Amino acid sequence: MIIDFLRLSAAERYLWMTRTVIPRPVAWTLSENEGGGFNLAPFSYFNALCSAPPLLGVSFAAGEGGGAKDTLKNIRRQKEFVVHIAPMKMLDALNESSAPLPYGESEVSRLGLATASFSDDNGGGDGDRLPRLRDCPLAFLCELSREISLHEEGAAEQFLVLGKIRKLYAAETVLAADAKGRQTVSAECADPVARLSAGNYAGIANFQSRRRPVK
Ligand SMILES: Cc1cc2nc3c(=O)[nH]c(=O)nc-3n(C[C@H](O)[C@H](O)[C@H](O)COP(=O)(O)O)c2cc1C
Repeated sequence: MIIDFLRLSAAERYLWMTRTVIPRPVAWTLSENEGGGFNLAPFSYFNALCSAPPLLGVSFAAGEGGGAKDTLKNIRRQKEFVVHIAPMKMLDALNESSAPLPYGESEVSRLGLATASFSDDNGGGDGDRLPRLRDCPLAFLCELSREISLHEEGAAEQFLVLGKIRKLYAAETVLAADAKGRQTVSAECADPVARLSAGNYAGIANFQSRRRPVK
């Protein structure tokens, strides 16, 4: 079967793209609401994009009323956000956090998720305003680097946010040593949620290693 994307509606393209670009990592994103409280929502149009500078990209569709989603509003205002890589044991909370709550209602409070500071483990707090979810083993504290408008004329708004990583939190429970004794992260211990199509998810069930070919 060949699918001609030029003949598809935007909704159909979305379905085919999200059914086939799999598995996708999920940016479980915390941001601060205007007036206080923390917003939390998952985004799987997400990936690591560059190392110098260290950039993560998260792509936002329009919200229900057509305007920006709450996370994007907060990032535009505060210029910072936290991206978590959720473990499979937090899948229910991750899914629940995608409920479209009225602006200002905190998913973090609603779901009773505990937070911790980025300085808890290694000192040197240097005044970070945003916390991380305590039970997520991997979290990136990011500052807004750039926002890029992606939508074509007449289509619903879609914005790519590039976040420059300031800090990575990696829990002791996921730290490991590689074959050369260097510190690394155990993917099995991190047990990251991978998004498939629609409401389908997977964990890393079949972990394998390969040596890269050398010239
Ligand atoms: C696993 C998952 C991945 C999602 N990925 C995206 C995404 O990449 N971009 C997007 O705009 N919405 C995505 N959504 C929908 C948002 O999470 C949802 O619109 C949420 O209510 C946004 O919250 P906010 O308005 O508080 O920012 C996803 C939902 C789920 C469950």
